Amino acid sequence: MEISSVLQGGYQHPLSRSWQAQRTLTKSMLMYPIFITDEPDARVEIPSLPGQCRWGVNKLQEFLEPLVKKGLRSVILFGVPLHCDKDERGTPADDPNGPVIASIRLLRKLFPELYIAADVCLCEYTSHGHCGLFRQDGSIDQAPSAQRIAEVALSYARAGAHCVAPSDMMDGRIKAIKRALIDNGYGNQCTLMSYSAKFASALYGPFRDAAGSAPAFGDRKCYQLPPTAKGLARRAIKRDVAEGADIIMVKPALPYLDVIQDAKELAEDHPLACYQVSGEYAMVVAGARAGVYDLKVMAFETVESMIRAGCTLILTYFIPQFLDWLDE
Ligand code: PBG
Ligand code: ZN
Repeated sequence: MEISSVLQGGYQHPLSRSWQAQRTLTKSMLMYPIFITDEPDARVEIPSLPGQCRWGVNKLQEFLEPLVKKGLRSVILFGVPLHCDKDERGTPADDPNGPVIASIRLLRKLFPELYIAADVCLCEYTSHGHCGLFRQDGSIDQAPSAQRIAEVALSYARAGAHCVAPSDMMDGRIKAIKRALIDNGYGNQCTLMSYSAKFASALYGPFRDAAGSAPAFGDRKCYQLPPTAKGLARRAIKRDVAEGADIIMVKPALPYLDVIQDAKELAEDHPLACYQVSGEYAMVVAGARAGVYDLKVMAFETVESMIRAGCTLILTYFIPQFLDWLDE
């Protein structure tokens, strides 16, 4: 055999195999998505997201304390209002007594070392279930949408969020949020993580169940990207970098590894995040239950593929397991 044909000598030992990774998964690369309802004592399992719950503010300490002890470094909060009056502009999104603002305040106090991100979107709070505001004719009203989203983001920053993460995909919202943060003294206090390349995916189903945020009519295709749209994704990433995003995110993750790789090239000086979304999580769990593969092996394989593609931050529902697995 030719000398250059023999590669196996380089990875014959577990340690030399670990050296083949350009980057290795660590606990600090993981951000845990958490659903918070306005029922303060709730701990309600979400059937389509096995093992995940909707939590009431009063339960957050007992839920998160053991995870923080095991090395949980950051969370991203999603509000699940069950008892509010939804309207066309998503008024309850920045209700000072709403579950998101209350949890930001509480978590800052309970866990001073924990990094708190807040997802910013209107769909959980609008009567129509869409992520922006509409004109009479049913088209998106761009400027007021971006303005309203910026207001909500600012209120989360004021409550103490270390990071605001707009997931709506409205045009111009990164610029509007960055402007609002700067003009109000939060420019250097709060990170702006943009869901830049967010695709109109079939993989958000369990999340919409969990958050009660399915649109009342139509779909999200005129703001979320078409799954085929590589060029549009590249343009959205460049646009958000130019508008002042501090972190770029690609979502979903596994079917869009090429987009993650593109983002790594286009935003090479930014941290790059990806979201292993609810349907990806449910798929991995379902496959393991069906005996297709071992859950842990597959969970690592999926997340490590995202790191290989260029991510340094991963949002995933597998974090409680990873905190144990990474100690083994
Ligand atoms: C809301 C939002 C969604 C997700 C995060 N923020 C759903 C959607 O856009 O319909 C999906 C997350 C997941 O599936 O885990 N804008
Ligand atoms: Zn939304």
